Amino acid sequence: MTQSLSDLPHQRFGQKFDVTADFKLSDTLSTLLLHRSCRHYRHKTVSDDVVRTLLAAAFSAPSKSDLQQVSVIRITDQAKLNRLARHNHEVGWIADAPEFMVWCGDNRRIRTLSKWKQHDFANDHLDAFMNAAVDVGIALQSFISAAESIGLGCCRVSQIRDDIEFLSKELALPNWVFPVAGLCVGWPVKPEKISIRLPLEITVHDNIYNDSRLIDETTEYDIRREQADPTEPAQQRLRNKYGVTERYGWPEDKTRQYAEPMRTDFGAYIRKQGFDLA
Ligand SMILES: Cc1cc2nc3c(=O)[nH]c(=O)nc-3n(C[C@H](O)[C@H](O)[C@H](O)COP(=O)(O)O)c2cc1C
Repeated sequence: MTQSLSDLPHQRFGQKFDVTADFKLSDTLSTLLLHRSCRHYRHKTVSDDVVRTLLAAAFSAPSKSDLQQVSVIRITDQAKLNRLARHNHEVGWIADAPEFMVWCGDNRRIRTLSKWKQHDFANDHLDAFMNAAVDVGIALQSFISAAESIGLGCCRVSQIRDDIEFLSKELALPNWVFPVAGLCVGWPVKPEKISIRLPLEITVHDNIYNDSRLIDETTEYDIRREQADPTEPAQQRLRNKYGVTERYGWPEDKTRQYAEPMRTDFGAYIRKQGFDLA
């Protein structure tokens, strides 16, 4: 059955989404609207040609001032991937990914070139870090969209930063290079569920910022989301601290997640990599 322009946004937001525009649902729109992270892969390699083509698409993304501050480290050594997977039991599943890579912000390149050209490097401040991190986010998403457009499944894995010193050592990261996220790539075992997003009423603002309807809209969103994909009691976080509640859902889950400190050493690590975050 052909999907109409409204069908895919309807699935994405779990609510009616009227579109009357006179344009067709393009392949790109479908790929983006049907995005889902995939953590279960068939035992089938992703050929080097495929990976290199997807990397070419990723590195076609725009970059701040054309500085091109992204480096990708492909983990082709299975023993190393096993070490990364074993080190943190929460990411044990990455060992089965046919392709795993770590996407890094790379502010080292421009600094090395500045030295070579004997020019001052006068941009040692927070913006230097942020620009590289944003470039990674853009290129990484281009990779994922390109991969999904040919039927591959991907999942970003920022959990590999949980022990940042361990990861940094495994990858031999020099000063001014920092990991943003790992990326698993493979052929999906089955289509994953579509994760329902907050409505545009919350995330898109007209002319000025206005979150006065956040709680009301979130409450309705939560109901839609739980109806589509209920949370099992065993999935509830921090049960010892907050107990098991009947009405769990997204705001309960996300606020429980952020009730515990995570990766509090990341700022110190970034400074150690040479960044002056002033
Ligand atoms: C920057 C970033 C980091 C992420 N890190 C992880 C991760 O460490 N582990 C994981 O299982 N999923 C990770 N994800 C996937 C998110 O959990 C996922 O995108 C989110 O739950 C929405 O689901 P969807 O991608 O299927 O729409 C990450 C996503 C992003 C954008």
